Amino acid sequence: MVTQDKMQEFVAWAKRRGVIFASSEIYGGLSNSYDYGSIGVEMKNKLRAHWWRTMVQSRDDIVGLDSAIILNPKVWEAAGHTENFTDPLVEDLVTHKRYRADHLEDPTKSPDGNPVGEVKNFNLMFKTSIGPVEEDASVAYLRPETCQGIFINFKQVFETSRQKIPFGIAQVGKSFRNEITPGNFTFRTREFEQMEMEFFVRPDEADKWFEFWVNERLNWYINLGIKKENLKLVKHPKSALAHYSKGTTDIEYKYPWGWGELEGIANRGDFDLTQHQKHSGKDMSVFDETTKEKFIPWVIEPAAGLDRALLVLLLDAWQDFKNGRSGNADKSADPNDLEVMLSVDQRIAAYDAAVLPLIKKEPLQKFAKELVDKLRADGKNVFYDESGSIGRRYRRQDEIGTPVCYTVDFETIEDGQHKGTVTARDRDSMEQKRVTLT
Ligand code: GAP
Repeated sequence: MVTQDKMQEFVAWAKRRGVIFASSEIYGGLSNSYDYGSIGVEMKNKLRAHWWRTMVQSRDDIVGLDSAIILNPKVWEAAGHTENFTDPLVEDLVTHKRYRADHLEDPTKSPDGNPVGEVKNFNLMFKTSIGPVEEDASVAYLRPETCQGIFINFKQVFETSRQKIPFGIAQVGKSFRNEITPGNFTFRTREFEQMEMEFFVRPDEADKWFEFWVNERLNWYINLGIKKENLKLVKHPKSALAHYSKGTTDIEYKYPWGWGELEGIANRGDFDLTQHQKHSGKDMSVFDETTKEKFIPWVIEPAAGLDRALLVLLLDAWQDFKNGRSGNADKSADPNDLEVMLSVDQRIAAYDAAVLPLIKKEPLQKFAKELVDKLRADGKNVFYDESGSIGRRYRRQDEIGTPVCYTVDFETIEDGQHKGTVTARDRDSMEQKRVTLT
């Protein structure tokens, strides 16, 4: 687990191992913008796919959607974002730096101790314009949440997916918010990916489904190996509810800098569908076969952040050892080198396995490459590595969380032939055993 004093080392590790880089680095970077490297992108893809499998493909009552990022601006008017999607902003009267008023310890002073001006509401939506000539173009927005694409398509999906209430629509994609104070690595950025699911229910069943989704989502993180003591549920007080919410519970994580939101589960009532019905003039109600009544469904929304969920997985799984893991100190390594181990769930690890010929010689290399081909044909993401001492190669894989290394060694060979066995070395226990992989 990453503690506050290890945060810098963790960020340096993420860069060194190709997990997450500061974006636009060759131009001096762009504040609070990040890119995912060769390891990070694999993990992010797997986490997204795992969410989709759990929320959509493993259930009969949820279907997917992929809507556009730039929607008709009327969507944001109807959803209340043009007016209400704001944060309170204050300016330091000396440095002219801007801060979120509700994040200041003393509401009259900036973190530099200078007086601040009056609080202004700052809209977080990124504006853009559609059309070749800016003056003639109409204003549009980059979506600040993925769920509005779901609400405006509700009727079409309902009519084409053969679903009945209760059912859900899920969407994953980029959202954009011009955050006043982004920070804490990828925790709060201006461009991020959301994984949202809107579950449409009868109003009298909303409380039941709310409880259900809070528990499902909490267990999703626990099942992924996040330590239970680092997770908690926090109910929003009525005064802190978003403009659309009848009730929200956050799943919070104990970050190195303190407890903070990981995912929010909201009871949005009939707010969004009613607003879109009003503004578009299109009927958003459904017919209940049992009561023979028309009604506008209520919505229970588990809204997660993909970047934030990956950050939590990394923070929770990251471990460092000053002098190497017991019995595993690599004598050839720089003694000042920290040994890092990422004990991340194997479903999210960038590589499913690494294949290593014990030495860089035939026929070990040939057999190792055959094993790589076989594992890849089975759909596994495999890393082949033949350079450096075997201890060092194990360490490299531990650092990026590869759950198992298969070593093709002399026991693999008999009379120049492949016996079909290799040494399987486990990341967490460091145990080595002979396994047959034919
Ligand atoms: N549709 C509801 C909604 O968007 P939210 O609590 O504003 O709710 C949901 O966002 C999740 O999206 C958050 O719990 C967080 O994981 C992620 N998220 C929100 N803003 C973010 C930001 N600026 N950077 C990274 N992730 C963010």
